[in-house]
Amino acid sequence: MRLSGKHIVLGLTGSIAAYKAAYLLRGLVKEGAEVQVVMTPSAKEFITPVTMSALSGKPVASEFFSANDGSWYSHVDMGQWADLVLIAPATASTIGKMAHGICDNLLLTTYMSAKCPVMVAPAMDLDMFSHPANQANLDILHSYGNLIIEPGDGELASGLHGKGRMQEPEIILEEVVRFFDQKKKLLNKHFLVTAGPTHEKIDPVRFIGNYSSGKMGYAIANELAACGAKVTIVSGPVHIKITNPEITIIPVESASEMYEHCLRIFPETDGAVMCAAVADFTPEKYSATKFKRGKYGLLIQLKPTTDIAAELGQLKSENQIVVGFALETNDELQNAYSKLSKKNLDFIVLNSMNDDGAGFGVNTNKITIIDRDNNPTFFELKSKAEVAKDIVARVVSEIGKKQEKRH
Ligand code: CTP
Repeated sequence: MRLSGKHIVLGLTGSIAAYKAAYLLRGLVKEGAEVQVVMTPSAKEFITPVTMSALSGKPVASEFFSANDGSWYSHVDMGQWADLVLIAPATASTIGKMAHGICDNLLLTTYMSAKCPVMVAPAMDLDMFSHPANQANLDILHSYGNLIIEPGDGELASGLHGKGRMQEPEIILEEVVRFFDQKKKLLNKHFLVTAGPTHEKIDPVRFIGNYSSGKMGYAIANELAACGAKVTIVSGPVHIKITNPEITIIPVESASEMYEHCLRIFPETDGAVMCAAVADFTPEKYSATKFKRGKYGLLIQLKPTTDIAAELGQLKSENQIVVGFALETNDELQNAYSKLSKKNLDFIVLNSMNDDGAGFGVNTNKITIIDRDNNPTFFELKSKAEVAKDIVARVVSEIGKKQEKRH
């Protein structure tokens, strides 16, 4: 029984996939979990509370108050009791409400009160799933640290084919088991992650920056935290909001600020993942007054910044790891490996600007991981959340190797 002692709130919303939640519930209970089912009013149109309460061995919570005796379900208590809130199936409407703090049923108030991680299994038609509004809402949920179980590709209730069908109950069950298992993988570990661009000030209104959105770094931080680690992100200016008690964000602007904070934090950590697109050059002089338009061009003298990854690579102890990134346009494998050795990294994650769907701003990435023996491992194009899983799996194995060496 891989889930014994675990408290799970299973939330159902109004989707045809609600019937699959019965199988999911049976799987969770078989694995030893104690499950409290919460159904939205429209979920009850698709599957009856009787089925769910019989399978869970508990009355289903659905209304704020019981019509019979006026007793009420405390969403706060449920939110605190749960080790995991699992919303499966999650409709586009519920996802939208979760993203925007709308609480018009017991499941949504439970979600907002939850102190534990939340997993969401979307279920909808392909066009609804790919609609920019739904994708933006999923991005918001992801930035809150909620875990999204990617829907499957296949036949939909509408008769159409595409991406949107809720994952099969057995796959969701394995995700839940993995979630609880992986929390042990980096327990009591602390990681530093750098993310986003840096802004190098030219004058009070101008800076030198780059296109980095910070999405990859934040996804890695989320995944490290999901594996039980404490994470400190030293982050350049980004538009990502994140709420995870295990993640601390230190906002910085310039490469030199990022360097100072990294230098201070690194000794307390088990390793660093250097995901930031740090400016390589910064203006030699900052002009306190705005440069005015003139007849002639403007020449700004630049000086190199400190290579933070290389510094940490030199400073690292035997027990620490440093992971770098390389964004390349040509001779990718060769350039990435030479960065790995120059900066004394444990492994390097290569992105090629020549790969469609990889690089700045997009939600997907295609990576190659290169180790210290110059062995490349190639990965498919995936969502940044999935890519983060591959990278963190390698972090876990590198940390494991360090521990083995010590014993
Ligand atoms: N990096 C860093 N500090 C810098 C520059 C880069 O920590 N001042 C880190 C990045 O976060 C990344 C790795 O070094 O993990 C490689 O960054 P990249 O920009 O690809 O390489 P550079 O060393 O800057 O070389 P170049 O830009 O010439 O390719």
